[in-house]
Amino acid sequence: MLEVSDLHVSYGPVRAVHGVSLSASAGRVTLVLGANGAGKTTSLRAIAGFHKPDSGSVRFDGRDITGTAAHKVVRRGMVLVPEGRKIFLPLTVEENLRIGGYTAPRGSIEHSIDEVYEKFPILAERRHSPAGLLSGGEQQMLAFGRALMSKPKLMLMDEPSMGLAPTMVERVLSSVRTMADAGIGILMVEQNAEAGLRIADTVAVVSRGETVWTGTALEARDGKAIVHAMLGEAALDGA
Ligand SMILES: Nc1ncnc2c1ncn2[C@@H]1O[C@H](COP(=O)(O)OP(=O)(O)OP(=O)(O)O)[C@@H](O)[C@H]1O
Ligand SMILES: [Mg+2]
Repeated sequence: MLEVSDLHVSYGPVRAVHGVSLSASAGRVTLVLGANGAGKTTSLRAIAGFHKPDSGSVRFDGRDITGTAAHKVVRRGMVLVPEGRKIFLPLTVEENLRIGGYTAPRGSIEHSIDEVYEKFPILAERRHSPAGLLSGGEQQMLAFGRALMSKPKLMLMDEPSMGLAPTMVERVLSSVRTMADAGIGILMVEQNAEAGLRIADTVAVVSRGETVWTGTALEARDGKAIVHAMLGEAALDGA
């Protein structure tokens, strides 16, 4: 469904990403792991059309969408749930959802909102509250709900558990699993590797702007493979 091959992205003279390759498929969670500054956010933003890559290719649903603008990518069925959630805090829960439905035919929006409320009943309870009054976990669910309004085939998620209490981390990640089980493809960056690995199917490790390891979540849970991949041979010497 998504094939990213040898992606290169820079900010002016700064080469942030130089050789990221990964894939994602329907109904599966692909977890992207990597240290701070490895290029995870840059990769997701380039895939989703917020930043033009220098080279490499992004194929989605059988088409080359490399460098296609984000609003067009959304219409094709890929949506980014950004780092820090970026929901509109003064607007109500329902107003935030309507914004997420901007690409949808007008007649389908009410139905889509009801579907989001079915998936996240807490959002239905809070539909008329300003989003700023929700807890961090609820705000993350709202960010998911807003993304679901575009009926995505693939959701890209940048650190959905960031800043959440441990019980909320579990709830948020289990809702990610549920969305995948409903058939949506998920490509998720997650700093909390342990929690992420519990719900992931496949893993890509990015180090210093490059994909250095890919494999199944089962293989990745063997910590040695991951440490090896992230830090290189030297990290295990003398360990
Ligand atoms: N707007 C920018 N301008 C210049 N350099 C940037 C910009 N954004 C990121 N970078 C640099 O690009 C590299 C990759 O950053 P990126 O944010 O993609 O990493 P990340 O893996 O998401 O890190 P984190 O785990 O901290 O979120 C870093 O060296 C960073 O300093
Ligand atoms: Mg990041």
